[in-house]
Amino acid sequence: MVPLRPEGVEALPARGQGPIGLEAVDSSTVNTSAARQSTTDHQSMDGHHVNAMAGDQSGTDPATRFADYDDLPEGHFYDPDAEYEPDPEYAATLAPDAARQRRERIGPTGRPLPYFPIPGPLTDHGPAKIIAMCNQKGGVGKTTSTINLGAALAEYGRRVLLVDFDPQGALSVGLGVNPMELDLTVYNLLMERGMSADEVLLKTAVPNMDLLPSNIDLSAAEVQLVSEVARESTLQRALKPLMSEYDYIVIDCQPSLGLLTVNALTAAHKVIVPLECEFFALRGVALLTETIEKVQERLNPDLELDGILATMYDSRTVHSREVLARVVEAFDEHVYHTVIGRTVRFPETTVAGEPITTYASNSVGAAAYRQLAREVLARCHAE
Ligand SMILES: Nc1ncnc2c1ncn2[C@@H]1O[C@H](COP(=O)(O)OP(=O)(O)OP(=O)(O)O)[C@@H](O)[C@H]1O
Ligand SMILES: [Mg+2]
Repeated sequence: MVPLRPEGVEALPARGQGPIGLEAVDSSTVNTSAARQSTTDHQSMDGHHVNAMAGDQSGTDPATRFADYDDLPEGHFYDPDAEYEPDPEYAATLAPDAARQRRERIGPTGRPLPYFPIPGPLTDHGPAKIIAMCNQKGGVGKTTSTINLGAALAEYGRRVLLVDFDPQGALSVGLGVNPMELDLTVYNLLMERGMSADEVLLKTAVPNMDLLPSNIDLSAAEVQLVSEVARESTLQRALKPLMSEYDYIVIDCQPSLGLLTVNALTAAHKVIVPLECEFFALRGVALLTETIEKVQERLNPDLELDGILATMYDSRTVHSREVLARVVEAFDEHVYHTVIGRTVRFPETTVAGEPITTYASNSVGAAAYRQLAREVLARCHAE
C-alpha cells in the first residue's frame, strides 16, 4: 500500500473520516483550542500544505489533546491507514469463523449477532429470486451493494444475474464495461419485441455472474413506456425467460421512484433498501415504503421488503452509531445484522471495474458483503 502521509508527519484529527474526505476536517474549519495553537505547516496526506495541529505542543498528552472532539474515542487520532485497519470491534463482528460467531456477541446494530452458515453447494439452478436494490436517495450504496452482494452470492455457487436499471450505467462501469460502447442494452430488451436476452447478456469476470448492461438509452424507456400496455410489468416479462437459469437476479435501481423503479419493484420478490448512515438517512424512506406497499397491493402481491442495509457505517463516530440506532428503532428486525462499513476500498473497486470480493478479497468490505450474502440466503431459506 502506498503511504498516504509522509513519514514523521503527525496525523490530523478528523471526524472519523478517511482519505475520501466526505466529512474530512481541515484545519481551516476546525475551531478548537488545539487548532488555534498550531504553529507549523506540515504536508498533509493528500500532498497539500495544511496547518497541522499535531506535533507542536510538546509535552501535551496525545490522548487529551483533542478531547473536545466528541465523535472520536479518547486517544483516537485520524489515521489514513484506519481505512484499511478496521475498528477491531467491528471487524470481530465480521469474522467468518463459525465458532467465534456462535458465541453470543452484539453486532453493530445493537442486537445479538446470529450465526449465518456458509451455504452448501447447489445441484441445480433456478427459479430465480429477484431482488430490487432500491432507494430514491442518491449515493447510498445501491450500485456498490448490487455488485458486491451479487459477487458474494456467486462465490457461494449461486448463479447470479445483475440488471443495470439505471441509465447512468454505473453498475456496468463498476464491472468494467464501457456503457457508451454498447449497441444492445436492457433498453432493447424492454422495448423491442422479439429481442432475446442472450443477445444483450454479458459475462462478467466473476464466474457464475452475468450482467444485463444499460446506458443512457434507458432514459428514453421511462418516457416510451408510458404509452405501453401493462407498462409496469415490462421488465417482469423481459426477465421471465431467464428465471430458470439463475438463482438470484439483482436489479440496481436508479435514484428515483419513477416508472423504471416501479418496473423493478413489479418484477421483484424482495427489496433491499440501502441506507447511508448519515443524518438524512431516513428522509424519504416513508415515501419509499409507501411506494413498495402500493406496488404490493396493485401489481405484485409477492413483493416483500427483505431488509434495510446500513451502509457507509463508521463505528468510530458517535454520529454513525446514533443514525444506525435510529434506523434499528424505526425498522427493527427489517434491518440486516450485517452493516457495511465506510472504506475507500469501495470507490477503488469502481475504478478497477471489479467487485471487492476479487479486488480486495481479504478486506473487511469483502467480508461484510459475504456475510450479507449469507444473511440474505438465510432469510430466503427461513421462508
Ligand atoms: N461502504 C462504502 N464506503 C465508502 N464509500 C462507499 C461505500 N459504498 C459506496 N461507496 C461510494 O459511494 C459512492 C456512491 O455509491 P453507489 O454508487 O453505490 O451509490 P448509489 O446509491 O448506487 O448511487 P446512485 O443513486 O447515484 O445510483 C460511490 O463512489 C461508491 O464508491
Ligand atoms: Mg447507482
